[in-house]
Amino acid sequence: MDRFIIDGGVPLCGTVRVSGSKNAALPILIATLLTDDPCVVENCPTGLRDIRTTVRLLESLGKKVTVEGASVRVESTGSLKTQAPYDIVKQMRASVLAAGPLLARFGLVRVPIPGGCAIGLRPIDIHLKGFEAMGARRIADQGDIIMSAARLKAGPLKLRFPSVGATENLMMAAAAVPGRTVIRNAAREPEITDLGAFLTKLGAKVSGAGTANVTIEGKAKLSGARHRVMDDRIEAGTFLIATAATRGKVRVAGAHAEHLEAVLVALRRAGAKVRVGRGWIEIEMRARPKPTAIKTAPHPGFPTDLQAPWTALMTLAPGFSKVREAVFENRFMHAAELGRMGAQIAVSGGAAVVAGVEQLSGAPIMASDLRAGAALLIAGLAAKGRTVLQRVYHVDRGYEAVERKLAGLGARVERAR
Ligand code: UD1
Repeated sequence: MDRFIIDGGVPLCGTVRVSGSKNAALPILIATLLTDDPCVVENCPTGLRDIRTTVRLLESLGKKVTVEGASVRVESTGSLKTQAPYDIVKQMRASVLAAGPLLARFGLVRVPIPGGCAIGLRPIDIHLKGFEAMGARRIADQGDIIMSAARLKAGPLKLRFPSVGATENLMMAAAAVPGRTVIRNAAREPEITDLGAFLTKLGAKVSGAGTANVTIEGKAKLSGARHRVMDDRIEAGTFLIATAATRGKVRVAGAHAEHLEAVLVALRRAGAKVRVGRGWIEIEMRARPKPTAIKTAPHPGFPTDLQAPWTALMTLAPGFSKVREAVFENRFMHAAELGRMGAQIAVSGGAAVVAGVEQLSGAPIMASDLRAGAALLIAGLAAKGRTVLQRVYHVDRGYEAVERKLAGLGARVERAR
């Protein structure tokens, strides 16, 4: 298992370019199941484990996939299967997104129940309720969910919570069902907007993606399309926070201010100088951050995926900062590991109080999940001395070539096997 050896204390300086968005690429690649025509998806972070898993998922369902650099071509080889293999779903929860397209096209899908993960239970009840409202019947069978419907019907849907995955799954299903489906209380994340644009290119008409009411005019036969995936706003935010923590100056190319408003507000409150331009954000921070309270929320709130990196930054702020996690129930796994580096964090329920310290010190630490791994990496970059970060495979799920990108900014970080 790979680890990172980080010699901390170097301010990050220079320019870095983010990759295409993992969380936008996953549903868009899966949406290619909606058509038999070829699709080309560009700006895909193909170095990421989750993207490789998605490629395997598409292949296991009967697609031919060709990866060339950041471009992924998906073609049909004949008929598709309607059963997602357990060994893939268990590796990547997002596999459950295959249910929408397959159910809509073939009236039948069998997916293993994804089960829990490190950051919470993560049920899929909102996805399933939505399919049922579209006329599907659900049968549970030996750990799998089988959904069937002679024909899904379009119609109004209302989500009890704006789940990103459920919104995507239902949008994809609705795209292949003739008629108008309106999803109320839909998630408003920019990745939803990107998926909406792709579905429109396939021939469905999607409007309101990125707002709480998404309307999809579906079509029985969708065609192929070429699409460039949006840039990764979470990767961009991670570089901005890492720069603040190391007191450096970095321009993040591929960072879009309109995707990161809540994060930029928090960074400015913490004392960072932030400049934005078309397709880039520049940050400069030369002093310790000021203690700043944040609370995660569905978009446009502060993204839960940047909560752990933010907590790492706040460990260096003089005074007390409060971090409230309101999207996932168990997302403070990084707190104990940060404690090993000298951070003082008290977690109670869904909130953490961070008592900032002057400096963190390098230590052997371990990533428990993707974003916790990013937080620990940031802490290691800011800390005095050497940090050895174990279980880097979590970080590799969401950050492409992160050690190379960081080294380009002057960081001393190496991957060791
Ligand atoms: C997506 C992102 C993930 C991000 C999250 C929230 C991808 C591949 N992943 O995950 O990085 O952290 O959005 O921004 O895009 N929930 C239910 N029932 C459901 C579905 C969700 O109770 O049927 C709950 C979850 O347990 C969680 C909350 O809703 O507490 C948010 O989940 P959701 O928005 O669905 O996140 P994902 O789509 O899994």
